[in-house]
Amino acid sequence: MMPVSLPPVGLRCAHLDNPLGIAPDRVRFSWLLDGTGLQQAYQLQVIQNGRVFHPDATATWDSGRTESGDSADIPYGGPPLTPGGRYAWRVRTWDPAGTESAWSDSATFEVELDQADWTASWIGLGALREHFGPPSQPGRPDPIAMALRPAPHLRRSFTLAGPVAAARLHVTALGLYEARLNGHRVGDAYLSPGWTDYDQRVLYQSYDVTGLLREGENVLGALLGDGWYCGFVGFDAKRAGGHYGGAPELLAQLDVTLADGTDVRVVSDDEWTGRSGAIQHADLLMGERHDLRLALPGWDSPDAGSDEAGWRPVLCRPRDGRALVADPGVPVRVTDEVAPVSVSRSAGGTLLVDFGQNLTGWLRIRAKGPAGASIAVRHAEVLDADGRLYTENLRTARQADSYVLADGPAVLEPHFTVHGFRYAEVTGYPGEPGPGDIVARVAHSDTPAAGTFESSEPWLDQLFRNIDWGQRGNFISVPTDCPQRDERLGWLGDAQIFARTACYNRDVAAFFAKWLDDVTEAQLPSGAFPDIAPRLNFPGAGAPAWGDAGVIVPWTAWKMYGDRGILERHFGAMTAWMDFIERGNPDYLRSRELGHSYNDWLSPHGDETPHALVGTAYWAHDAALMAEIADAIGRDDDAARYRELRAKIGAAFADAFVDAAGHLASGTQTAYVLGLHLELIPEESRAAAAGHLVAAIRAADWHLTTGFVGVGYLLPVLSSAGHTDAAYRLLAQRTFPSWRYMIDQGATTIWERWDGWSQEHGFQSAWMNSFNHYSLGSVGEWLYRFVLGIDQEPGTAGFGRLLLRPHPGGPLHRAQGSYQSARGLIRAGWERADGRFTYRVEVPAGAVASVRVPSADPAQVRDAAGEPPAGVAEFPGLAGVGEAVFAVGPGGHEFSGPDSQHSR
Ligand code: BGC
Repeated sequence: MMPVSLPPVGLRCAHLDNPLGIAPDRVRFSWLLDGTGLQQAYQLQVIQNGRVFHPDATATWDSGRTESGDSADIPYGGPPLTPGGRYAWRVRTWDPAGTESAWSDSATFEVELDQADWTASWIGLGALREHFGPPSQPGRPDPIAMALRPAPHLRRSFTLAGPVAAARLHVTALGLYEARLNGHRVGDAYLSPGWTDYDQRVLYQSYDVTGLLREGENVLGALLGDGWYCGFVGFDAKRAGGHYGGAPELLAQLDVTLADGTDVRVVSDDEWTGRSGAIQHADLLMGERHDLRLALPGWDSPDAGSDEAGWRPVLCRPRDGRALVADPGVPVRVTDEVAPVSVSRSAGGTLLVDFGQNLTGWLRIRAKGPAGASIAVRHAEVLDADGRLYTENLRTARQADSYVLADGPAVLEPHFTVHGFRYAEVTGYPGEPGPGDIVARVAHSDTPAAGTFESSEPWLDQLFRNIDWGQRGNFISVPTDCPQRDERLGWLGDAQIFARTACYNRDVAAFFAKWLDDVTEAQLPSGAFPDIAPRLNFPGAGAPAWGDAGVIVPWTAWKMYGDRGILERHFGAMTAWMDFIERGNPDYLRSRELGHSYNDWLSPHGDETPHALVGTAYWAHDAALMAEIADAIGRDDDAARYRELRAKIGAAFADAFVDAAGHLASGTQTAYVLGLHLELIPEESRAAAAGHLVAAIRAADWHLTTGFVGVGYLLPVLSSAGHTDAAYRLLAQRTFPSWRYMIDQGATTIWERWDGWSQEHGFQSAWMNSFNHYSLGSVGEWLYRFVLGIDQEPGTAGFGRLLLRPHPGGPLHRAQGSYQSARGLIRAGWERADGRFTYRVEVPAGAVASVRVPSADPAQVRDAAGEPPAGVAEFPGLAGVGEAVFAVGPGGHEFSGPDSQHSR
């Protein structure tokens, strides 16, 4: 092979492109290799206060040539980074032949401010009371309307004495902010600063605003929304509209360097003024109301010479003890616009708009006055039997927006709310909407797409899309259970079961990095992880399969992204969790301290799996993962300790729940799935136990009976135990309960319940019936790892050592897809035609793979040139088990052999 040089591309710091604010202990580097070779060594250089490297520049840190194939999760190893400091970095590589690449282009990162660097104060207007909506019923005040308040507009004008060389706006809110500078919106993020436990920690964002400033007069402004801080959150009516505080406040610091080197700082302080404007209320759950007649044209711009009338001094208080932390996550952005698939008008004149997709976001409407005319928008996921919006399942959430028009054309769009919907009812639209007049704006945490999947079965492709849409709609600052009703909470159980699927679908490295801080922060002093994070005032903690997310999600982030930083950061919290369980359960059966023990939540036939079985299985899982985690971060003693613990729990589990013939207590599918997946069944009984699982599925007439907990591992367990045929039967099953049943009912996301709606019973209980819950979509992992076969060698992380092992079966004759891994793009696809099975893969630079090709005659597998593929001899022991095994390096490879006809 010709030696090739591997120029590093796609440089990232802390999983982000050129972050403008990153905590020093999160500074870890990664890159991709442009080419098809392996990396033998790298050299990484960091300089301060420069964006380009000059030959004579002195590096702040130079790794020197470092012998390593790693290209992700490289920790910074230089002297302490300066708070607020601006750094540039670059990297070059060597391949095994010694060929040196050119230096990469430079990338940058800027370091989080020190708490002492903040001189800004919290400012706001207190709880504005001037624009109550009318009571919903004459004479009876509407308690929700009573809690809604106008959005403060805050501003300050200032003068710059010369042209601007560089400027950063560091900004946050207790509540939500939209920063404005000289008439422009700053950045493209929504719902900033995101949700954290504001009593302890507030994230801030930093923006490069150099281009928005000018010599002379400037105006810095902000709109504030209630958001999670003082708006409606969750279902706790007692604290509705005020979990953390009573009114939103802003904290802003603009640091400007003029061309002559002078530093200028403008902060939120008592020089600011504020007032309300067009936004009469803005609430995450309830929606938004604008009266355009009250708009303040030019309020955020010096040009319009805006009117001082009505502006009053802000309330100002010094910054308190809450930690201000640079946002390690990704912003919520509008990532798509969806046009209606149909718009129909009712006899009463109301428009019913169908977007054809259950999504999360809001409507953007173009309309033209008359002044005083009102447009009201309601949103729903589904329609009732009469074709009207079904909103009962929203519980107290209203997700309704309304607008009072001024004269002339207007673009109507909320600022501080988000709705879960496929349908919208628009009342009062003047005239007929033309193309583009009504669109849905899709908004969620901007986690770039990472995975693709496509097959010969359209319904399976629909399932894949439904899983991804469910993820998009629910990853909004935290991974929520659902995006529509008065809940939208960061449930840990849902997150852990879906985490692996989530990582395959989208790049959620930074998103989970942010949320895992929320999880650790919400841990109780006992060590119990909470049921939800941020915790609000919800008392639940310690529940099996919920609290365990505190171990499983960091492990998953490491597994998928090679992120050891996450493991180090949360190791203490994970250890405290393990100690908490062990303290309560000295006999190694987890039957106490189970908190709310949701068990196999929403399993279709009720709660039959013993709680202690689920609890003990998850505890064993934690212990096994903790051993791997400890190994990964070089804590050998801990690794040994957790292996020992795992063995004890395993023995207790087998003793209590498994008989000699491999039967599990209760005999539920979930019991078998957990026992097999977590290797809790003695080796000699595993094959029998897998047979019992298949028998239980057959006894249910080839239906699954798993809830949230069992569902994620069900198909992986079947495939791993050689029952891929049963896995495909469940996948293709059309009658309830099944994934395809939802699709047959028109689902475009994953439902919370297997029977959210059925021909026999109509809607399930309105009290708990979301049509956009991702948990049951955890089957996505199986599509990637088993159908496509994109997986990693056991025990490895970060996709440096791939295991490409497809599991064809069922009605599929073709499947193909890809995964943008930490090492680069992996492709895999197969087809069965004319008695042959063909598998094509692409291995990214820097990775090696073992490829296992199922075939009726493994010895007859050939490459694209019809030759026996190289590398087969490396695994001689595996010949004859229906798979040919090859070791390959970076690049494209094709394998084709006699089809086994039947699936494994
Ligand atoms: C949520 C779930 C959550 C569960 C706990 C529900 O209200 O929607 O997704 O995990 O409570 O059992």
